[in-house]
Amino acid sequence: MQILVLQASPRMKGNTAWMAEEFKTAAEKGGHEVKIVNVSHQKIAGCLACEYCHTKGNGSCIQKDDMQALYPLMSEAEMLVLAAPIYYFTLCAQMQAPIQRMYCVNKPAKVKKMALLVSSYSPNVYDGAIAEYKDICRYWGAEDCGIVTAKSDEQKTEATGQKIADIVALMNS
Ligand SMILES: Cc1cc2nc3c(=O)[nH]c(=O)nc-3n(C[C@H](O)[C@H](O)[C@H](O)COP(=O)(O)O)c2cc1C
Repeated sequence: MQILVLQASPRMKGNTAWMAEEFKTAAEKGGHEVKIVNVSHQKIAGCLACEYCHTKGNGSCIQKDDMQALYPLMSEAEMLVLAAPIYYFTLCAQMQAPIQRMYCVNKPAKVKKMALLVSSYSPNVYDGAIAEYKDICRYWGAEDCGIVTAKSDEQKTEATGQKIADIVALMNS
């Protein structure tokens, strides 16, 4: 399976990056092709709601930024993994921008499975992120293969790595 991981933390060696790498290692062991894209280090603006895509643009976005390179990866992905830190009780802005820029095509063409990896400082801050993720799974018609959260004392631990490996095992079954 072609798997695309959107990694949205600006911290390249942070907790979310670690979770994304754990997922990649486990999925590659299972024979999947995995690409991690750090969307926080790209220039991806928010949707302008100009409706160019749904009128003259024939599905293409008027904004020519780094999202142009992400559109083909999104359209080829069979599984999409959202990996993000919690900022102010929800998925960070760096994750929201690429998701909302999918407005021009409505949904990624081939995505059948999704997973969510989130890190935070505190416990009990995941409701907003999980609700959004589940709504997106439903909207894009993708199966939720699992959610792994990691608060400060769970970050970069064997237990969290195991939970991530469990998602991969579920997706392979
Ligand atoms: C702007 C900002 C907002 C944050 N908001 C929250 C929050 O609402 N709740 C929380 O528990 N942690 C919050 N954090 C902490 C991060 O979620 C936490 O440190 C996370 O592990 C960072 O992931 P990273 O190492 O992948 O960057 C915030 C951090 C930043 C920089």
